[in-house]
Amino acid sequence: MSNTKQPLLQPLDMKGLSLSNRLVMAPMTRSRADNADNAPTELQATYYKQRASAGLIITEGSQISPRAVGYINTPGIFSSAQVEGWKLSTKAVHEAGGKIFIQLWHVGRISHSDFHDGKLPLAPSAINPQAKSYTPKGFKDTETPQEMTIEEIKQTIQDFKNGSKNAMEAGFDGVEIHASNGYLLHQFFSRTSNVRTDEYGGSIENRARILFEIIDEIKQVMPENRIGVRLNPSLHGVFGMTMDEESIPTFDYIVERLNQYDLAYLHLSEPFSDVSGLSFAEPNIAKRYRPMYKGTLIINAGFDQEKGNQVILEGLADAVAYGKPFISNPDLAERFEQNAELAEWDEATFYTPGPKGYTDYPALSEVKA
Ligand SMILES: Cc1cc2nc3c(=O)[nH]c(=O)nc-3n(C[C@H](O)[C@H](O)[C@H](O)COP(=O)(O)O)c2cc1C
Repeated sequence: MSNTKQPLLQPLDMKGLSLSNRLVMAPMTRSRADNADNAPTELQATYYKQRASAGLIITEGSQISPRAVGYINTPGIFSSAQVEGWKLSTKAVHEAGGKIFIQLWHVGRISHSDFHDGKLPLAPSAINPQAKSYTPKGFKDTETPQEMTIEEIKQTIQDFKNGSKNAMEAGFDGVEIHASNGYLLHQFFSRTSNVRTDEYGGSIENRARILFEIIDEIKQVMPENRIGVRLNPSLHGVFGMTMDEESIPTFDYIVERLNQYDLAYLHLSEPFSDVSGLSFAEPNIAKRYRPMYKGTLIINAGFDQEKGNQVILEGLADAVAYGKPFISNPDLAERFEQNAELAEWDEATFYTPGPKGYTDYPALSEVKA
């Protein structure tokens, strides 16, 4: 296959937004907003600019309110200091010719009372995920969260809307709703974390309701074709999530219903763990959902260059989101173009403060020099 024909390196028209290639930088928490405002700084701007040759960057999960936070030093998108801080990143990426969406995040029951002056984290139901929370005082066992009142649900929907408004002000090309990986919205979708008996629990339609109410609100403050949604349908045994026989039908319903919107994209992950032994899990996410979803489909998790090109060639996705490879290869697109070796990532510095393991991975041209 000649380089110019690599499917990953072909441009993509994403609902009117021109992406120079089909490599997407997956959202990754890097915990370096270690200032009192949890505002991004020049450090994040440098990091994202280094990776601007990706067709699209999706930022790390960014809390939409103080109640949404669940990890130390993650950036927010609810205060003016945060908006000002993010302007540095959007400007840097745009000047380098890239595109950048922000991931809007609420962790729900994965948070801890240490973040909230002793108040319990908010979640659909009072069910402890039996996971770990990364608090200002180190790793702690998660707690039994407080079941959200209807008022708190409505407030959270407004917080997503406000985060989107702020994102537009900060210069982002769009937003990604984090409805994935066992965080708040995923907690609403699952019967094992949502046992509510009101309009947000019980039936599939009720458990999915909050997502559509959020999209409907965000649409009021920004174009629908700049909103992306992230889902992880076969997440099992990770982040306190457990699948059951209604899990996949729930995601089928969500994906079908997303067709009624003119979204920027749907971003799906293949299973994070081996689910081949689970009769009610779907081991092949792209295969199941490509025929179902009519819009732009981004696929993620565990892809290398060859598998990425293959999945696009087979028509199973429009673009591929790479996570860890982008941590250690800021110029991943150029490396694919040159069929070059990839640098290994160092897990020890995924979440540590400062430039080490963050902005000090060289591009290939710097290595050669
Ligand atoms: C350090 C790190 C932080 C992550 N943070 C987020 C996040 O904030 N939001 C999210 O949706 N996924 C997050 N993920 C998951 C990645 O987006 C991606 O799904 C995962 O790394 C699998 O893709 P990969 O095999 O290409 O790395 C994170 C992953 C890593 C390694």
